[in-house]
Amino acid sequence: TDLQELPIALSSKTEQVVSKEVTVLFGSQTGNAQGLADKLAAKLEQQGFQVTLSSMNDFKPNRIKKVQNLLILASTHGEGDPPDNALSFYEFLNGKRAPQLNDLQFSVLSLGDSSYEFFCQTGKDFDRRLEELGGKRLCPRVDCDLDFDEPASEWMEDVLSSLKETQKTDSTEKQSSLLSLSKTGTSIDQANYSRTNPFKAEILESVNLNGRGSNKETRHLELSLEGSNLEFEPGDSLGIYPENDPALVDLLIWEMNWDPDEKVSVNKQGDRSPLRDALITHYEITVLTKPLIEKAAEVFSNNDLKGLLSAGNEELRSYIEGRDLLDLVRDFALKEVSASTFISILRKIPPRLYSIASSLKANPDEVHLTIGAVRYNAHKRDRNGVCSVQCAERAQPGDFLPVFIQRNQNFKLPSNHETPIIMIGPGTGIAPFRSFIQEREELEAEGKSWLFFGDQHFVTDFLYQIEWQQWLKNGVLTKMDIAFSRDTEEKVYVQDRMKENSQELYQWLEDGAVVYICGDEKRMAHDVHETLITIIEQEGRMNREQAEDYLTEMQQQKRYQRDVY
Ligand code: 2AM
Repeated sequence: TDLQELPIALSSKTEQVVSKEVTVLFGSQTGNAQGLADKLAAKLEQQGFQVTLSSMNDFKPNRIKKVQNLLILASTHGEGDPPDNALSFYEFLNGKRAPQLNDLQFSVLSLGDSSYEFFCQTGKDFDRRLEELGGKRLCPRVDCDLDFDEPASEWMEDVLSSLKETQKTDSTEKQSSLLSLSKTGTSIDQANYSRTNPFKAEILESVNLNGRGSNKETRHLELSLEGSNLEFEPGDSLGIYPENDPALVDLLIWEMNWDPDEKVSVNKQGDRSPLRDALITHYEITVLTKPLIEKAAEVFSNNDLKGLLSAGNEELRSYIEGRDLLDLVRDFALKEVSASTFISILRKIPPRLYSIASSLKANPDEVHLTIGAVRYNAHKRDRNGVCSVQCAERAQPGDFLPVFIQRNQNFKLPSNHETPIIMIGPGTGIAPFRSFIQEREELEAEGKSWLFFGDQHFVTDFLYQIEWQQWLKNGVLTKMDIAFSRDTEEKVYVQDRMKENSQELYQWLEDGAVVYICGDEKRMAHDVHETLITIIEQEGRMNREQAEDYLTEMQQQKRYQRDVY
């Protein structure tokens, strides 16, 4: 062979292979971005691309220099923050050490919720930064609201066709599309329940876990998954498509002088149903967002609304907070718009996610949930959480709820059953830990386990008390510390119990324990995080920075996992 020709032949070959590589990175908090990334990766593979699929945390940031095609799917968390499993990559890209990426083609899909001010901020940040570093957009960024299914599919189609345009097609593509045809052919007879095709699960049981006189109502729900083929692991969540309160819907219809039986469209395919049903099952009526107000100002040609919009974000936010559609139409005397026009500006009702409270091994064909009923008064009206109060007040055993499984790879029992676990879950944060312990009991796992639970009152609010005491007795649970905040003059919280046990807790960490936090994010999870740092500082004789590094290291090893809301 002519040696001189070899490198050329090789390089053109390598080039072809390299140009077929696509890297899909996700930063996901509740699993939506991850679910979409899985779907995208499968589509790309079907089309013959070589796909690297990874969470941002698991991706060595420096490898970015080798990537030619980068697809980012990122959700935004809280007040515009990146999700936990995107943080290290986000910081790397935005830091001084980020490399030039002149050969990179990229596109970003961002997930968010337009009821938050910093809507889709993380996706926007990635998009801007990748361009700054020299990357070229394969196709424009798409920002998705809660009803992300359609825009996300459109983005994926866009990405696929742009990628195909930039490559030469070869025969492998034909082969793999033939393959994919035969695959879909065999899967027709299998029911595939998912977020877009929820399973109607029968309610088997619904009980209030709180005793008489409690300030709280926490529902224990048992649902049947029989015949669904649905499977889940401890740590996963269940999505429920809730229904709006019929009484609220009736008030709205009455206020607007509409005909409840008028047929209106319920989706883009043009299916229609009576207005009252549409407002109960298909549309969101309890949350106001900036885009909604903008559209309402438009369709009602209302100057007061336009005034509110031009008054600035601060003003708008304080109006939106705690108000719903009924407030909007009352406060701005919105009238004279047809039901179908009005409906065209609403979002689809989004599913609510609940951390699953049971193990499939311990309760085959069932899924259990722990749902705190949300009730409060705001702006002189009593208000209810849509799904939680539906479950507490209206949904009865024998009724059916549309559900799907939402995987959560960021909240998983260690694969080694001997690894010790520390579970911190006050209030409904207890849910996944019931699932964990049920699972470990079934597996006869040897690993130690330690639960921190807290709520208001011992007598009325000790959720699943008998079960925990049984598990302590039979040794499935090694240790339990409880903090009831309103039984004593001075409040005690889970983190106070952690501090009291700081020496032992640190020893567990040193022995390789995995720490899980579930529950309220803003106050509890934040304070528990701070407490962990303090304990590590004190017991490990470290300064604050070293203690933070210790915890970051744990996070990277998946030994510090959070499911917070
Ligand atoms: P509180 O409402 O009496 O203040 C579950 O809701 C439990 O979490 C309750 O006992 C509640 O106490 C407690 N809680 C409230 N804020 C908390 C925080 N910052 N850290 C830990 N627990 C908290």
